[in-house]
Amino acid sequence: MTHSSSLPGLRHPWVDRLLNQHQRSLTELVNGLGSPLHLVCPAVFSANVEAFQRSFVRAQVAGSLLFAKKANKAGCFIKACALKGIGVDVASVGELQKALGAGVAGTDIGVSGPRKTDQLLKLCLAHHCLVAVDSLDELHRLHALAQSRRQTARLLLRCLPQMQPGSRFGLNTQECEQALAFCRQHSVTLELEGFSFHLSGYDTQQRAQVANQLIDLCLASDLEGCRSVNLGGGFAVRYMDPEQWQVFMDEQYPELFHGGKDFAGFYPYGALRAGAEVLDDILASPVGPGLTLAQKASNHDVRLIIEPGRALLDQAGVSVFRVQGVKDRSASEGYALVTVEGSSFNLSEQWFNSEFLPDPLLVATSPRPLAPFVACIGGATCLESDLLTWRKVAFDRPILPGDLLIYLNTAGYQMDSNESPFHEVALPQKVAVELRDQHFHWKLDNLA
Ligand SMILES: Cc1ncc(COP(=O)(O)O)c(C=O)c1O
Repeated sequence: MTHSSSLPGLRHPWVDRLLNQHQRSLTELVNGLGSPLHLVCPAVFSANVEAFQRSFVRAQVAGSLLFAKKANKAGCFIKACALKGIGVDVASVGELQKALGAGVAGTDIGVSGPRKTDQLLKLCLAHHCLVAVDSLDELHRLHALAQSRRQTARLLLRCLPQMQPGSRFGLNTQECEQALAFCRQHSVTLELEGFSFHLSGYDTQQRAQVANQLIDLCLASDLEGCRSVNLGGGFAVRYMDPEQWQVFMDEQYPELFHGGKDFAGFYPYGALRAGAEVLDDILASPVGPGLTLAQKASNHDVRLIIEPGRALLDQAGVSVFRVQGVKDRSASEGYALVTVEGSSFNLSEQWFNSEFLPDPLLVATSPRPLAPFVACIGGATCLESDLLTWRKVAFDRPILPGDLLIYLNTAGYQMDSNESPFHEVALPQKVAVELRDQHFHWKLDNLA
């Protein structure tokens, strides 16, 4: 018996319309621009921004959004940030240049990441960006640079949360005290605006707990402008039905995957609470008798900043791969090995000893009868481990060369964080799409 599974991904209406009404245009685009092709939809990104903004409004607390740019390199998203008047979280000179170039004001840019270079710090000073200082050394260098250039530095102190002591980021309690003393001593040059943290994982209560501690640090600092707490990112995304996900997690076994492969773990694809719902939960978390986090922040005029990456990109893109060949071993092994034009470098989850689990959708480019067909999806490289889908996926009809396989909801981290020109292949194009009045409008992302 062949073991296979079905994990349908949630699909935004724009993707349904694309598939139901504009399939021909999609095929032509892939023919013209190559496979894989990433389609990105800035309108969905903007709607996600609004959902987070509404959450702050509902909780009656001052809140700011910074889009964590690392999650997708597309220019259209950063331009949407400028249009919506939200900020951007960057962690390199390149990202900062892109954000400024797209029209985001320097004052709306947060700069995170470890051991920032002098070049990056100088740019931050010149554009008055908000630097999340990660070490004492960085604080001292920022101060020296600001002083020598007769500028002031806007900064947050990034704290190492007690529940993740193994993290390489942030200042521990002792370092934080020293940094605070240094900021007080040099308050003419260093404008300490508050504190920041970023937690791995998706625990809502932990985020509320650390945010509460950092509000207390702001209040105890006795520094007038020290009134911001940055909660980082980590707002879960729901890729599939939570019940279906739970069934899969309860039953998964190695035979479901090519080569019996096992994995370090999976992203929580069936999150019960996701996106702005998670922010609602954090803001409503009790932090004292009859007091929520939002109320406490608001009572003390503390501004809460968040830096979602993945959650702002929820449903804002898909990746299309053309089938290059099919090794049909249905009769002998019970499943086929499909090779697509492209590789697992174009689906980043595969590079973290994990798998991007939502089913790819088959767009058959020629008619054929329905018949169960199980397949794993490999990339067109000579790497044994280059599989986009190790899982034996159940399709409703055979896959043939020339068909398209569409990976849903890939804008958050999947598209480009691990892309590579391995084998001298060109990096995939991104196309920004807009579906309006029954029409399908598209532009190359770098022109959008
Ligand atoms: C400092 C910081 N902010 C924001 C993010 C974005 O996280 P997510 O995409 O999970 O929201 C990250 C991710 O690593 C981060 O390190």
